[in-house]
Amino acid sequence: MDVIGERAAFAAACADARAGGAAVGIVPTMGALHEGHRALLERARSADGFVAMTLFVNPLQFGDAADLRSYPGRPDDDLAAAESAGCDVVFAPSPEEMYPRGDPEVTVDPGPLGGQLEGAARPGHFRGVLTVVAKLLGLAGPCRAYFGEKDAQQLELVRRMVRDLDVPAEIVACPTVRAPDGLALASRNARLSPAEREAAPVLFRALSAGVFVIGAGERSAGLVRTQISDVLAAEPLARTDYVAVIDDETWDEVGMVPDRARLLVAAWIGDVRLIDGVAVRSGAASPAVAGERAE
Ligand code: PAJ
Repeated sequence: MDVIGERAAFAAACADARAGGAAVGIVPTMGALHEGHRALLERARSADGFVAMTLFVNPLQFGDAADLRSYPGRPDDDLAAAESAGCDVVFAPSPEEMYPRGDPEVTVDPGPLGGQLEGAARPGHFRGVLTVVAKLLGLAGPCRAYFGEKDAQQLELVRRMVRDLDVPAEIVACPTVRAPDGLALASRNARLSPAEREAAPVLFRALSAGVFVIGAGERSAGLVRTQISDVLAAEPLARTDYVAVIDDETWDEVGMVPDRARLLVAAWIGDVRLIDGVAVRSGAASPAVAGERAE
């Protein structure tokens, strides 16, 4: 496995792979790899002849300097994990390499959805995400790029960017990988104390309560939200940030639960902010959570 630090060398490695007839698969990450990242890498490995993981903690998407500083970094472990998942290349640039002139003057406007939900809680976050993803895909050239449903709003915005700006990448969505108790794997979970870690599955329990009432026939989004909020409120270590029921096509918040809906939550557990979400398909005979897999 090659570890590349320079943009030009990364672009050349992807171009060479394509010239040799391989499909290029890109898995963008910020490191601190876990089984969720690994699932993306394995999916890419099964589909593409050349797999590159990018490893870059993008300062542009952190509003809060303390959050950036405390982001877990384990570069040696990450390289070993990437290698064992079958990566051909890891692109791990320095901030100076990615942004040689400091913060870029031209950035990607994430549009109206970029200011809602996670975007409302973290102003500028999605502008930073889309700007770095545009750069990474620009360097990679025509490719498939793999993103997790765990960060469903990010995935949707990347899809919209690729669609609206004609970026030559096919975006592949990968299901959320969870711990056996339901907690969605996330790099930030490492910052939870033992008591907080025990409390954290409340996000998934709350979402499951929402799925359950939809299964029982509830179509009032307000009542589904109340169910979810009540479960969160019963956990003393959790502080709810938002609970949303959205149309999974338009991402509009809805009054009535549509056939293709998504339930989203964000909550603080101690000083760690966690997000989770599930897609619910209720048009069919029985409601189902769109494919997920356990760790
Ligand atoms: P990061 O948080 O490292 O996540 C990298 C990718 O792994 C994202 O597509 C994310 O959705 C996916 N992922 C994280 N946890 C997952 C889980 N439990 N199951 C499935 N997939 C999971 O998201 C980012 O980095 C950054 O914003 C990035 C896109 C790299 C841009 O800087």
